[in-house]
Amino acid sequence: MSTNPLPDISFTAGDAMSVKLEAKAQLSHALPHKLTSLPILLLNMHENCNCRCLMCDIWKRPPGLGLDLASFRHHRDSIMALGVQQVVLTGGEPLLHSNFEALCSFLKSCGARVTLLTTGLLLEKRADIVARSVDEIIISLDGPEAIHDRIRRVIRGFDLIRAGILAIRCHRPGISIQARSTVQRANFLFLRETVAAAKRLGFDSISFLATDVSSHAFNRELIWPGERQSEVALTRSEIACLEVEIELLLEQFRDEIARRYIVEPPEKLRHIVRRFREHLGEPDASVACLQRTLGFRGNGGRRVYSALFFSS
Ligand SMILES: C[S@@+](CC[C@H](N)C(=O)[O-])C[C@H]1O[C@@H](n2cnc3c(N)ncnc32)[C@H](O)[C@@H]1O
Ligand code: SF4
Repeated sequence: MSTNPLPDISFTAGDAMSVKLEAKAQLSHALPHKLTSLPILLLNMHENCNCRCLMCDIWKRPPGLGLDLASFRHHRDSIMALGVQQVVLTGGEPLLHSNFEALCSFLKSCGARVTLLTTGLLLEKRADIVARSVDEIIISLDGPEAIHDRIRRVIRGFDLIRAGILAIRCHRPGISIQARSTVQRANFLFLRETVAAAKRLGFDSISFLATDVSSHAFNRELIWPGERQSEVALTRSEIACLEVEIELLLEQFRDEIARRYIVEPPEKLRHIVRRFREHLGEPDASVACLQRTLGFRGNGGRRVYSALFFSS
């Protein structure tokens, strides 16, 4: 049993919105009984979202509310005791939250850096609030215009990102705005075009990751059946094409990789190919590999990713 003197940060109070802390399932074996340190907190601010993405089931949730600020404020001591340095606001769509600004102020008063992870659809409308409330912005960008809008299943999604970035930069020119691109069946041939689009849109950098199709994440109560996984994951021949696409990306955007405009170094980009191979049952599906992919470095004061989920 842990002798950890820190408060047990499990948010299960009978609040209007109950909140609980869940370490990501894949990591739970490696985590100590109680968390002693949580440098990065992923905070699900709102259950609902404003896209209907191909690779995510969060949009299927019934209409819900945002995180209840009054209840959440009670956890100030726990947040501080766990040494939270950065809070990533996610969801659902965090910009749907009606009390976005107050929540950000609260997190800042806890000493945390605030990162917004967003679809970008509401950025233009809420530009003034966002620009003064967060420290950096990450916008999901799933391809060049037509591909992005097809994956997100929204009309003018890409256009709204463009308008949102311009509006934010009007209010706060120096703020960091990063693109985050989830590689999957609908966009794996367009990685170079995605980087080109990110540059045209004025992003400061872009990061790529392989789509997860086989965990409980992204609102899957049950693991997706094989057919559903195949809609998003790649076949063997598609993986071979992805491999070529990544090599061409490395060649065409050598400078962008060298100066970390593309955040991942070559070996990490090539690792995306391995993730899809593992999905087909090929080697390197070890826990160590999974932990590397998630950026997990174990306990004992090192980086730990965890997430707050809430349910109404
Ligand atoms: C769940 S969304 C929440 C924030 C916001 N709604 C958005 O789309 O940016 C957070 C990130 O997860 C990514 N994502 C969604 N489904 C995924 C999946 N199956 N595997 C990996 N990442 C996924 C999204 O592209 C997005 O960058
Ligand atoms: S990825 Fe984000 S926007 Fe898309 S369905 Fe999931 S939560 Fe909604």
